[in-house]
Amino acid sequence: MTGTQEKKRVFIKTYGCQMNVYDSDRMADALASDGYEATDRVDNADLILLNTCHIREKAAEKVYSELGRLRVMKEEAARNGRQLTVGVTGCVAQAEGAEIARRAPVVDLVVGPQSYQHLPQLLRDVAGGKRAVETEFALAEKFERLPAATKERTRARGVTAFLTIQEGCDKFCTFCVVPYTRGAEVSRPVDRIVDEATRLADAGVREVTLLGQNVNAWHGVGTDGREWGLGQLLYRLAEIPGLDRLRYTTSHPRDMDDALIEAHRDLPALMPYLHLPVQAGSDRILAAMNRKHKAEDYLRLVDRIRAMRSDIALSSDFIVGFPGETDEDFEATMRLVETVGYAAAYSFKYSPRPGTPAANHAGHVDDRRMSERLSRLQALILDQQTQFNRSRVGTVMDVLFEKAGRMPGQLMGRSPYLQAVLVDADTSRIGTIGRVVIDSLGSNSLFGTLVEPDVRPAATQSTVEVIT
Ligand code: SAH
Ligand code: SF4
Ligand code: F3S
Repeated sequence: MTGTQEKKRVFIKTYGCQMNVYDSDRMADALASDGYEATDRVDNADLILLNTCHIREKAAEKVYSELGRLRVMKEEAARNGRQLTVGVTGCVAQAEGAEIARRAPVVDLVVGPQSYQHLPQLLRDVAGGKRAVETEFALAEKFERLPAATKERTRARGVTAFLTIQEGCDKFCTFCVVPYTRGAEVSRPVDRIVDEATRLADAGVREVTLLGQNVNAWHGVGTDGREWGLGQLLYRLAEIPGLDRLRYTTSHPRDMDDALIEAHRDLPALMPYLHLPVQAGSDRILAAMNRKHKAEDYLRLVDRIRAMRSDIALSSDFIVGFPGETDEDFEATMRLVETVGYAAAYSFKYSPRPGTPAANHAGHVDDRRMSERLSRLQALILDQQTQFNRSRVGTVMDVLFEKAGRMPGQLMGRSPYLQAVLVDADTSRIGTIGRVVIDSLGSNSLFGTLVEPDVRPAATQSTVEVIT
């Protein structure tokens, strides 16, 4: 690097949801234009950012144990005459703000999710000897002011990408910190989203997952001057050349409108896999959670979606041991799972979060009971997931090849249902969609064989086909 100033290196560790993954990339982009290059080695970084999650107690605790390790690292760096800057970003930063700086003197910088556009300036303040804490809510500004990734940086990130279109949440489920850490719902404007998606496609991205804490509450003024919902937006994004696959997450059952369900029928690019969290199967618990829907509403919704797109697969989130959950309530959750039949699902023990209404609800469920319920639910979900994966064996699916697999000569790709599929194929096929017959089931992936060596545009292909 003769003649140029040596670049500083930033290491970002990301916890939590995909929105944090997206934000970490945007922070790296903002810092790139300020002379930082990203590193995946913590030991040679000049700046370490922990992009944190506050959703459950365990997630938040991890941050403090990580900060303990960083303290040791920072002291050692100082002994070697090297300055190491440590920052906490994300939802713990938002929720605990100045408290982090107090509890962990190793931290130079605390920045909430709505303030990343200020990161370069805040780092200059830190270099000038200040400690910086910034937890303002200015969501609209965040998206306007954060720079887009360059083509090279996007390319380096691979053929799939996240794109945040909506942030924040107005639902206030009683267990959840998100409305407090991410603020009120804000939708990004159509032209900005189309622009970013087009840029991703131009850089070789084949699959875009639209993100929002409440992604299907997205709304905006469309190119026709009318009010659009997520359904209409998807029709527009499906027109972008090169974007073969679209996904979105996470949806709230209350915001699945007809246009969105119809988009699943009409758009081959919209993948037939939907994450639609229900949380619980008992109406009493759903009401106490303030979910604003009953179990029956959810089941009817699933029927409507399946009537439009019969091959759609569903996943969900569940909380067990919400305050006041009886055995009977839990059995209602098990029945709902039996009725729906999921391709995958995440389930968690209820974790009381400071400042949320449920943290003060009566009816604490003891940990042993929670564990029993969780393991029964997880066994049922695993069973359904295995059945679903097994039902793919012998079928042909479109697989988007993402990267080299673990074995030489092998590629890892994703099916329309996000299943990892391992196939023997040349690396030149990365970024293409191939027709793959599924031969067998591994523990975390499917094994398949390419049945058609030609590269074809995906949008014209059907997604699943059973060999008869
Ligand atoms: N916006 C999404 C998901 C938000 S967080 C939605 O509306 O469903 C992801 C998941 O974490 C939630 O779906 C919920 O299952 C779980 N979760 C949120 N708060 C929790 C808590 N206090 N304890 C346990 N799990 C929680
Ligand atoms: Fe949290 Fe509920 Fe909002 Fe989802 S909808 S982010 S669970 S408050
Ligand atoms: Fe966690 Fe914040 Fe996402 S609390 S799940 S990182 S919105």
